[in-house]
Amino acid sequence: MSSPLLCMLALASMATTASATVVLPGGYVLVFRATAGITDKVYEAYTNVGYNDDHRIGMPCGCVSVNGNESCDRHYRSSLLDAWPSNVRVSWYLGGQEEAYIEFDGTGSTYLNWFSASNVDSSTWTDLGTETNNFFTIEGHSTSTIDRRFFINRNYGGCGVDKGWSVVLEESDACSWGQSLQYPAFLYSSKTTYAEWNTAADVGSADVLVIGVKFLSPVDI
Ligand SMILES: *[C@@H]1O[C@H](CO)[C@@H](O)[C@H](O)[C@H]1NC(C)=O
Repeated sequence: MSSPLLCMLALASMATTASATVVLPGGYVLVFRATAGITDKVYEAYTNVGYNDDHRIGMPCGCVSVNGNESCDRHYRSSLLDAWPSNVRVSWYLGGQEEAYIEFDGTGSTYLNWFSASNVDSSTWTDLGTETNNFFTIEGHSTSTIDRRFFINRNYGGCGVDKGWSVVLEESDACSWGQSLQYPAFLYSSKTTYAEWNTAADVGSADVLVIGVKFLSPVDI
């Protein structure tokens, strides 16, 4: 277990110098980190513009770690998330291991619209640039019976044949493949292509969803 003191020091220096920020694979700087199973909605935390966790005394150090084995009680939002445009890397972690990622070109984007097919630079999924999709947005598909965010879906057609790459389920879903989980749940295709959501063997469930950025212009922090 990390000591709270070390965590506070790391966060304090994060606010004053870019050299001490939490740096992720590829040199990306952590700006958002969602925690599976804590019941708080990811989309609400992500879009809480102006709020940040940079100086919260008592925040568990696990909240700035990619290792979901370390406990965290919130979705971590850095003030750096309000600085844009940025290139972005999204990672799905399980037990401290990165299971999948996508890198995006953020040129001309906002913090809300960079997550789209036309911005994909590279990914562990080889078919993201070639396959069609019916959703590829942070907003996703949210109605009174489903709440699917960070949603990259290839097609609908009935619960048994829905296919895709990524979905943040904020709560229990209308389809059985999205039920009986701890929410929010971060489902992803564990193949190198899209998966059928109903085929459990092809679907992973991450414990941490990480968003890292590289700024495209100087940032005043
Ligand atoms: C997380 O916990 C799992 C299960 O105990 C273990 O296999 C894995 O090595 C741990 N990962 C890290 C990075 O601590």
